[in-house]
Amino acid sequence: AQSTYQEPHRPQIHFSPKEKWMNDPNGMVYYKGAYHLFYQYYPGAMVWGPMHWGHATSTDLMHWQHQPVALYPDSLGYIFSGSAVVDEHNTTGFGTGGQTPLVAIFTHHDTAALRAKRNDYQHQSLAYSLDDGKTWTKYAGNPVLKNPGITDFRDPKVMWYEPQHKWIMTLATKDCISFFSSPNLKEWAKESEFGKALGAHGGVWECPDLFTLTDEHGKQHWVLIVNLNPGGPNGGSATQYFVGSFNGHQFTPVDTRTRWIDYGPDEYAGVTWSNTGSERIFLGWMSNWNYANVVPTSPWRSAMTIPRVLSLKQVKQEWLVASAPVSAMHVIEKKPVVKTQLAVHSSLDLTQSLGIDGQPFRLQLEADKAEDLSLVLSNEAGEQVEIGYDALSHQYYIDRLRSGEIDFKKGFAGRHTAPRFSQAAGIKLDLVVDRSSVELFADGGLSVMTEIFFPHQPFHRLAVKASKDLIIKKLVHTPLKSTW
Ligand code: FRU
Repeated sequence: AQSTYQEPHRPQIHFSPKEKWMNDPNGMVYYKGAYHLFYQYYPGAMVWGPMHWGHATSTDLMHWQHQPVALYPDSLGYIFSGSAVVDEHNTTGFGTGGQTPLVAIFTHHDTAALRAKRNDYQHQSLAYSLDDGKTWTKYAGNPVLKNPGITDFRDPKVMWYEPQHKWIMTLATKDCISFFSSPNLKEWAKESEFGKALGAHGGVWECPDLFTLTDEHGKQHWVLIVNLNPGGPNGGSATQYFVGSFNGHQFTPVDTRTRWIDYGPDEYAGVTWSNTGSERIFLGWMSNWNYANVVPTSPWRSAMTIPRVLSLKQVKQEWLVASAPVSAMHVIEKKPVVKTQLAVHSSLDLTQSLGIDGQPFRLQLEADKAEDLSLVLSNEAGEQVEIGYDALSHQYYIDRLRSGEIDFKKGFAGRHTAPRFSQAAGIKLDLVVDRSSVELFADGGLSVMTEIFFPHQPFHRLAVKASKDLIIKKLVHTPLKSTW
């Protein structure tokens, strides 16, 4: 059957494949006006299987055009996660007719070697496109970086390091990150390792990313993203990061504290787009390996998060990476409903006054004090999702204990928390709500949580609750247009 994007739980403003299984975003690169999104894809079933790179493109990060599958498994193995770069100087020599090659650097996952119980079953390989990303050719000399005998050796993220005119590959190598360099993407030399004794290690390190962010004083910092599965702050898979410096050889963090880009259970494998200039745009897979294979959706499984712009903010001498929905969200915004100076005593139904009529929508709230406060999405079946702030513990939380279908996996139902970092007197919430997900950006994106849910009927009611009398300075409900 043709997919309509109207199935129950189908995301309306998030990228999801027409059908079948999807996981990590891959090969994200911006080129000639198009944002390319590749993704871990198994066109044969609604569960994980032999990995391909699916492909979609967008000119605004909101509306996506499905493209033919870009990379198929081959004799070297499945096509696992990786990145893509614009080879401006044709360092690879792939551009034989004067074209600028786009080059994908990915992991070949050799299941035969794995079955033979060998350690070296993952290698790094190349594919290139000479038609701006439409079609891809695998490099005849694959793999370009052979496995030295490490069981987890994958997810290359490559960037051009201008000061030393070389490519840098950031690679997840089991319980640490290894950096490699190359003049031409074909020959790689190891530079250093990072992280064996640092950060969260509840599972395997995966899908890293290395890039710069400039602070408000114009100073450049390096950020190293390391995805981890399991061992996330709310169980299962999650994205940690380190802030520090990089000199073309080594990454040095400013401190040893573990921080997370998104504290919710449903952002994973998040990395950023290449070639977007000074703007860093992040996208994650909106699921968790704890239950990704059994979530109750059909004929597809999984969606991506809303693309997010990353920035660096300092709170009490600490450098934090903040996330915000990309400004391009404005292209899908309908007319907002704005309320100001709203007094809340215990509970207030907002459904009528804000014109809530299902999803998708964005909701922005500013309260004068950092007191207990929550927003409750609900339906007639008594199902609900609660998103709030708990003043006593200084934590944001999302509670999906009674959110509808929860029995497909033990532990899916739960109440999850994120620390509040902001020192501001009042609270600011920015929620992006789709049919089966909510993304919370609190205090300008200093505390972020993503959660998925599967109600039996759509949530079309919204209420606000407070335990003390509270003034909501401003409340904005912006209905969003479906992008499908
Ligand atoms: C992360 C991950 C990657 C791997 C891919 C396989 O979710 O496990 O490490 O390349 O998924 O699909």
